[in-house]
Amino acid sequence: MPVTNSPANVVGGSLPKWQLALAVGAPVALGLGYMYYKNSSQDKKTKDIDKKRSDKQLSIDDDLPEKSSKTSIEKTETPAEKALKFKTLGNEAYSAKKYDEAISFYNQAIEACPIENKDELAKNYQNRAAAYEALGKHSAVRDDCTKALEYNPKYAKAFLRRAKAYELENELELALEDATAACIVGHFQNTASLVVADRVLKQLGQQHADEYLKNKKITIPSTYHIKTYFRSFKNDPILSLDDEELLKEENKCLVRIIKLMKDELYDEVIDACTEEIEKYTDDNSQNKMKLMLHRATFYILVGDHKKALDDLEKVIDNYQISGDDVRVNALVKRALMRMQQEKRDECLKDFDTAVKINPNCSDIYHHRGQILLLFEKINEAKVDSDKAFELDPNNGVAYAQKCYVNYRFGAINRSSEMLANVIDDFEKGFELYPNCCECFSLYAQLLCDSQAFGKADEYFEKASKVDPTNATLYVHRGLLQLQWQANIEKGLEFINKAIEIDDKCEFAYETLGTVEVQRGNLLNAIKIFDKAIPLSRTNIELTHIFSLRDAARAQLKTSDKLGAKFMSDMRNSMS
Ligand SMILES: *[C@@H]1O[C@H](CO)[C@@H](O)[C@H](O)[C@H]1NC(C)=O
Ligand SMILES: *[C@@H]1O[C@H](CO)[C@@H](O)[C@H](O)[C@H]1NC(C)=O
Ligand SMILES: *[C@@H]1O[C@H](CO)[C@@H](O)[C@H](O)[C@H]1NC(C)=O
Repeated sequence: MPVTNSPANVVGGSLPKWQLALAVGAPVALGLGYMYYKNSSQDKKTKDIDKKRSDKQLSIDDDLPEKSSKTSIEKTETPAEKALKFKTLGNEAYSAKKYDEAISFYNQAIEACPIENKDELAKNYQNRAAAYEALGKHSAVRDDCTKALEYNPKYAKAFLRRAKAYELENELELALEDATAACIVGHFQNTASLVVADRVLKQLGQQHADEYLKNKKITIPSTYHIKTYFRSFKNDPILSLDDEELLKEENKCLVRIIKLMKDELYDEVIDACTEEIEKYTDDNSQNKMKLMLHRATFYILVGDHKKALDDLEKVIDNYQISGDDVRVNALVKRALMRMQQEKRDECLKDFDTAVKINPNCSDIYHHRGQILLLFEKINEAKVDSDKAFELDPNNGVAYAQKCYVNYRFGAINRSSEMLANVIDDFEKGFELYPNCCECFSLYAQLLCDSQAFGKADEYFEKASKVDPTNATLYVHRGLLQLQWQANIEKGLEFINKAIEIDDKCEFAYETLGTVEVQRGNLLNAIKIFDKAIPLSRTNIELTHIFSLRDAARAQLKTSDKLGAKFMSDMRNSMS
């Protein structure tokens, strides 16, 4: 998902997660898990075998004794042998799905087993837990797994089974701790543990995000993000009015808003719009619709999607009053919001409606092109980005976007001719639009995609020269350092620079936190994720950040339980 300049992304701060995942690895958001994925993807064979093994249901432990020995020693049976026999009988009953019978054999096995045979005792409890699990008795499962872990504190299966029991009882934090422990003691080699951890993490992140959103205080994003959002629309219905129009009596209400925008007093905008809106006694004024659209835009920016939707709906439905341009603007904004809410069909429907109203509005194609690219619909994205540029040839962003989409198109079509043209076109772009940050940053993105990391860094640097206030460029450079040179110090330097430029840069905190998880600095990671939370603008992002934080917390607790030495040995053996 390489497009990075969509306002939906910039404002939401959800810059390409794929890059973060590549560089520091957050496939299951369990820092150490990355190492597993990284190592095992190089060794596909092992992974396939491992996958087959883990696809089976979480099993009982059944190292069956040799058949011959079983019959020969029957007369002089020691307690250990007796326990083994009962365990085997239990396992047979379990396999035959006779769970009550299995439980009673495991009871006898536990009774017979000498206290010093800790591993065997642990297995018997774990196996009995499996039988309870089959009967849906979650609390008995938990108790038996706890017992099993008393006898064998590094018992991955017992951790995982207890995690699943907690999950079924909606004790998600405890479930996550156990799933994390299962991953760690299993050296991230067991896909089943990773799958459970990932699943619980998503649920927990969602739960925390929902709780958070209920009591959320409104925070205004950085000035930079607000400006970027507005800049991504060619003609704002209010801000593009000229002086002459502003002198007209009926436009007085807009002058106040324009002044607040000029003075960057963004946190006053919503209230000011509301006051002006309330002066109208009915819905018959276009300016009222414009004010509602403006207020909706700020509701989007602060992440209050419900209020934004209410306003946008009014503007869109009131078509005779709103007029085409205002409606199209509202439709595109609603489409972007629906995209953030993962409502893909509704998003595309709004774009289609907008095209029907005004097929000559470049904003529609520009934004839809970016979204189609995110969906990997390269052919359609190409049609849109070509059209956006055709309709707005002075716009360097549209030019850069078109070049980048052509690159993707050429890459899919394996056309070296097209790819060569793209490079030429970008170079022309640097001269035609020397002040356009995106020309340089999208070219850097292209270089990244084709693994030309050194040159990519050079072009990110050029982009920074054009726009020194763009913080995310530094996050990208930091990621490059991690990905390309594995240079953590240098990477962190860039990311901290991004925070220096814009202390509301969510992408920077998210990246920094992930790096800290990777390095085992869990407490610090948690603190950093806490800073990213109020900066998240969408539910999806919020869920993601909470998941990262929850994963770090679970790892911290698990490390305490398993012991620092175990954790550091573990980290060393994996790196
Ligand atoms: C800031 O940089 C990012 C790349 O890191 C780019 O996608 C974005 O369009 C830039 N923003 C502006 C306003 O130039
Ligand atoms: C769109 O532009 C074309 C060509 O410039 C023009 O013929 C057409 O009337 C325009 N359509 C609308 C709805 O403005
Ligand atoms: C290659 O390009 C053509 C258009 O020139 C397009 O229709 C086709 O789908 C492309 N092929 C692939 C594999 O994308």
